[in-house]
Amino acid sequence: MTARLTIAIDGPAAAGKGTLAKRLSERYALAHLDTGLLYRAVGRRAFAQGVDLDDGEAAGAVARALTPSALDDGSLRGREAGELASRVAAHPQVRAALDAFQRDFARRPGGAVLDGRDIGTVIAPDAEVKIFVTASAEVRARRRTEELSAKGRPVDYERILAEVRERDARDAGRTVAPLKPAPDAHLLDTSELDIEAAFQAACELIDRFLAGRNA
Ligand code: DC
Repeated sequence: MTARLTIAIDGPAAAGKGTLAKRLSERYALAHLDTGLLYRAVGRRAFAQGVDLDDGEAAGAVARALTPSALDDGSLRGREAGELASRVAAHPQVRAALDAFQRDFARRPGGAVLDGRDIGTVIAPDAEVKIFVTASAEVRARRRTEELSAKGRPVDYERILAEVRERDARDAGRTVAPLKPAPDAHLLDTSELDIEAAFQAACELIDRFLAGRNA
């Protein structure tokens, strides 16, 4: 039986976690779960159902009723769903409802790649490799602005920067499972790296771990 390789990728919004996690899952032939999609689906559904997003009990009920098919919605990746997600993600009832699904995913035979905010600290504290991906708020806002402009949706950089900062404050400031690196996470600052360089740096960390394990 091959030994398990679970890779936990955490970090703030727009740091490049998603792309990195996807590429790592391909490189190491592992299943990938973008855990932000779970919170996005809950936020979107709660909003559509007229649920008060500050009501943890009601948002928790929406989370408990979620089925995996809810994740197959392309619009979940947009900015609006991200804001709704960040608000419902602060409720312990919502996090508890999504916990078992994520833990089971992390423990699948062979391992998996999960990206989010609390993978290394809460969901998979025993992950073989933990990477905390950061970049300055300015760099993340610039990337996001360029991404949206490339899609033909010109946006104001200052506004995106304000959104990035607001989301950081909410994700890092909440009492339950706040955004923070696990004590044994490798920090990967992508402020001065493009995605290819970030991917190579992550592969080096993982290959070093694998070489050490096989030694
Ligand atoms: O990674 P993302 O931008 O898709 O996440 C959207 C929001 O969901 C994020 O602002 C906070 C929340 N989230 C979380 O609290 N825990 C996770 N593991 C993933 C996302």
